[in-house]
Amino acid sequence: MMASRGYCFVACVVALALALLATASNGQPLDACFYDKVCPAALPAIKTVVEQAVAVEPRMGASLLRLHFHDCFVNGCDGSILLDDTPSFTGEKNAAPNANSVRGFDVIDRIKDAVDAACRGNVVSCADILAAAARDSIVALGGPSYAVPLGRRDSRTASQAAANNSIPAPTLDLGGLVSNFASHGLSVQDLVVLSGGHTLGFSRCTNFRDRLYNETATLDASLAASLRAVCPRPAGDGDDNLAPLDPTPARFDGAYYGSLLRSKALLHSDQQLLAAGATEGLVRFYGANPEAFRRDFAEAMVRMSSLAPLTGSSGEIRANCRKVNGY
Ligand code: HEM
Ligand SMILES: *[C@@H]1O[C@H](CO)[C@@H](O)[C@H](O)[C@H]1NC(C)=O
Ligand SMILES: *[C@@H]1O[C@H](CO)[C@@H](O)[C@H](O)[C@H]1NC(C)=O
Repeated sequence: MMASRGYCFVACVVALALALLATASNGQPLDACFYDKVCPAALPAIKTVVEQAVAVEPRMGASLLRLHFHDCFVNGCDGSILLDDTPSFTGEKNAAPNANSVRGFDVIDRIKDAVDAACRGNVVSCADILAAAARDSIVALGGPSYAVPLGRRDSRTASQAAANNSIPAPTLDLGGLVSNFASHGLSVQDLVVLSGGHTLGFSRCTNFRDRLYNETATLDASLAASLRAVCPRPAGDGDDNLAPLDPTPARFDGAYYGSLLRSKALLHSDQQLLAAGATEGLVRFYGANPEAFRRDFAEAMVRMSSLAPLTGSSGEIRANCRKVNGY
């Protein structure tokens, strides 16, 4: 307990410095110690459920990380991705990048129940749960820890159109990836570092089929041959079959960059990072310096995690992560 308080103190100084750079939508900064007084049991409760879920299924850590990314890239880290569609409301879950793809909603529900029990009430937002669960997932799979800035509130809306338009597609070329990240205030370096999230998890065949049959110039021949067995033509056949995004999908390591350097990226967008000098240099750097990757990934996660949060009196703290309060 003392150790974690000490960590939080240091983390708070760092978080405060970062907060001066990235100010929240209504001026109130996120704060790594936001729950220290309100509910010190909140973060440990989140961690426990994440660790259990990842022990049962390591891929869940990857899926929870991606949920946070897809939340933050659509009008900020506001829990909008968690809202269920209803007959009168269309949210983000069935947007093109998410449908039949993002997962982990049941785990988020279990975390919310555990946190509400530990805090004896509804004081922790679903958006903060996503941010903390992403960090805990990274750590559970061997990645770097970092202090998560907290104090986000939950949206009362979601946008399928924004989800269609704001989340980068795996068909994008390097220029499209760079401008997508720039539209979120993230740099070329953030693009290369955060793409390293693909050190974890899997992709469905539908997202890498073209690469196997039409892009063989930048794809290792033996990997292509074995992937074609998993992902046949024509489209429609085996669309949901899975392949790992790097050779060690349950371990946070530097293997992702090594794969790119050997023309073994699974996704077109990943291999594109070698298409021009600036990103190619960074891929080579992180491939050779896994410690630098860990450090820079943690820092970039804090930047991604801080995109356009609702704070202060905007938004709400949802009682049920799937529903706006009062419905
Ligand atoms: C740079 C642009 C990015 C593109 C084009 C992209 C695209 C994709 C695609 C197509 C998949 C497979 C989805 C499926 O087949 O169902 C995927 C999976 C994944 N992505 Fe990304 N992604 C990007 C950036 C990121 C970032 C920034 C993170 C986190 C920091 C991330 C984390 C993940 C993870 C962990 C998975 C595996 C999820 C699982 O196994 O459930 N991605 N991504
Ligand atoms: C989002 O994309 C899906 C799939 O392409 C499409 O069916 C849907 O109409 C789009 N939604 C909006 C609001 O543009
Ligand atoms: C590859 O390119 C051909 C010709 O442009 C196209 O017909 C086909 O749909 C593409 N994709 C696959 C998986 O073959």
